[in-house]
Amino acid sequence: MRYLLFALVGYVMGSIPFSFIVPLVKGVNITKVGSGNVGGTNVLRSMGGYAGAVAMILDGVKAFLPVLIARAVFGVSLPEGMMIGFFAAVGHSYSIFLKFRGGKAVACTVGTLSGTLPWYVAVFFGIWIPIVLVTQYVSLGSLLALAILSGILFLTEGYAVGLWMLAFFGLSLFRHRKNVLALFRGEERKTDLIAAFKR
Ligand code: G3P
Repeated sequence: MRYLLFALVGYVMGSIPFSFIVPLVKGVNITKVGSGNVGGTNVLRSMGGYAGAVAMILDGVKAFLPVLIARAVFGVSLPEGMMIGFFAAVGHSYSIFLKFRGGKAVACTVGTLSGTLPWYVAVFFGIWIPIVLVTQYVSLGSLLALAILSGILFLTEGYAVGLWMLAFFGLSLFRHRKNVLALFRGEERKTDLIAAFKR
């Protein structure tokens, strides 16, 4: 029962579509511009670095908060905390507020790591930032960072945490399936992080 309740709270929190709400404040329907994805990357590419960063951070916080509260107040274990964050990532990807449309789960994964294993957020960005800066492919940086982190967490934190990380990676890989095809075809959208913040 407790697990069901935590999963439900995570899912509803994750469903709040900040990457849809932030552009809407400026009158932009993010589903109609760029890649059409309801995610911080599309907000950043379409509206500039600061709007994108706000969307990404809020999408991370909506996973971070339920995980943190469950850990601090209810004393849930590390794998349970990751489960709550996973349901937030599911809510983000299949939002009840957007007719089950949504983003690609990366910000929620980072938010979950912030509330469970914060040091690994540095590892994520240590992989993500150079890949995105050099290739300008956010999808590639996100997927490689999540894949590598899954391997690292299996080795350092045990199989329960490793399996949850693998679940995050699996969800994100599935949500990125069109990006993966586009990467192989050389048709993936590029994102210039530095230029986005100069706009
Ligand atoms: O995390 C989302 C990003 O990797 C890809 O987003 O808009 O290029 O499909 P987008």
